[in-house]
Amino acid sequence: MKTKHLYINTIGCQMNVYDSEQIAKGLTVLGYKLTSLPEKADLIIVNTCTIRKKAEQKAFSFLGRMTGLKRKKPDLIIGMGGCVAQQEGQKILQRVPHLDLVFGTNAIGRLPGMIKTITAKKCRIVDIKMSGQIEELDFIEDKHHTGKVSSFVTIMQGCDNYCTYCVVPYVRGRETSRNPDKIINEICGLVESGVREVTLLGQNVNSYGNKEGLCTFPELLARVNEIDGLLRIRFTTSHPKDLSTDLMLAFKDLNKMCNHIHLPIQSGSNRVLKRMNRKYSRKLYLEKIDKLRDICSNMAITSDIIVGFPGETRTDFQETLDLIKKVEFDGLFAFKYSDRPNAAAARFEDKISEKEKKERLQQVLTLQAHFTTQKNKELVGSTQSILVEGLSKKQTRIDKPIINDDVQWTGRTSTNKIVNFSRRDNALSCEQILTGRMVKVRIVKAHSHSLWGEPVSIVPMFLGLRGEKSYVA
Ligand code: 5AD
Ligand code: SF4
Repeated sequence: MKTKHLYINTIGCQMNVYDSEQIAKGLTVLGYKLTSLPEKADLIIVNTCTIRKKAEQKAFSFLGRMTGLKRKKPDLIIGMGGCVAQQEGQKILQRVPHLDLVFGTNAIGRLPGMIKTITAKKCRIVDIKMSGQIEELDFIEDKHHTGKVSSFVTIMQGCDNYCTYCVVPYVRGRETSRNPDKIINEICGLVESGVREVTLLGQNVNSYGNKEGLCTFPELLARVNEIDGLLRIRFTTSHPKDLSTDLMLAFKDLNKMCNHIHLPIQSGSNRVLKRMNRKYSRKLYLEKIDKLRDICSNMAITSDIIVGFPGETRTDFQETLDLIKKVEFDGLFAFKYSDRPNAAAARFEDKISEKEKKERLQQVLTLQAHFTTQKNKELVGSTQSILVEGLSKKQTRIDKPIINDDVQWTGRTSTNKIVNFSRRDNALSCEQILTGRMVKVRIVKAHSHSLWGEPVSIVPMFLGLRGEKSYVA
């Protein structure tokens, strides 16, 4: 089979990153290999996000930039997938004349068939059917070591919560959980290919399995924890209303669980939370944070905030700032409210001006920057277990062994903080040894978004996070 090249531009959340990986794996059956150069591609796919208007615009401007390539190479196939595709469907073909394919969030399994048809018949296709069921993709996992240490694994799709600002239930459909055996099999395959850390993905992982009567999320975590060779487990996203004591206890009881939770609060005002349909109060959120910190003292907590939700008064906004001060998050993603099609809040009156939203966003970011730096500084002097992901950004490639020179590595703490460190060694053999390994690093310097450390010891392979013996490197 002739090798063809596939270029994927992924916009948006981790779920899209996972979907893009599935797209690439699925298309290997047609002989497609990934390329990082759109000019080299025979097939270009943009996997889109519609959570905010800005993300949607990004997709269309990318397609605009591809016009010239299609003119030069008429056989080039260009497709749009993901949430914008699901939302806009057929309309996109009119808007983008050089687009061959629009496929929705439930159509990834049908993609190879569609590409075959377009190649044979030179036609245009739109497939935005929502089956409401998870279609397990049918491909053989490549067990060769890829150098990838950390991987996403989707455990559920869709969402039933209908927060009034959010487009997800309309573009990803109703909440559906994957069968636990399929999830475990997939993770075992990833571990065989060298993956040491998985992040389980769902819009609201706490309600995993409830509808289908599968196991609970903490039970799934316990099964994942048993997988030999896997060192770390993360997950995202948790809905505060469903954060159970069982899940809190899993952080303490399961040795591979990382000490980090992303728990979006969205607003610190009860009035706004109610209008957002979040189904929890500020008090309940704060109580859950306290309980979590009681159960697991070294817990990093990050969150999402929306500023300028329709009707958000200055007093409401002050309550959000106050909550940020009370919790002292390790990190925060803050967004200006953006009207989304179908989402109820798009029809709410009393919209906040762009200027006001910008000012509020700036205030949140400035306040949080203080806490992020403070949390990083608190780690100076401590020794942290780092899972090494590879060479640091500064040291992106090594063409030849560098003898007796500093080689820079990057990895994360259990609390998800980036740590860079260097090790004077033979670079090539060092890379083989350190990528995917746990290294104990003494933190010596805190920057605003990362830490700098000195390696103390390498944790022997497969001994896990706690109670391990280690030797000095
Ligand atoms: N406007 C702004 N931010 C939004 N988010 C979701 N929908 C919107 C919207 N319409 C944010 C929320 C969510 C994160 C993924 O994106 O904070 O947690
Ligand atoms: Fe959107 Fe709310 Fe569902 Fe999260 S829980 S995906 S914010 S509707």
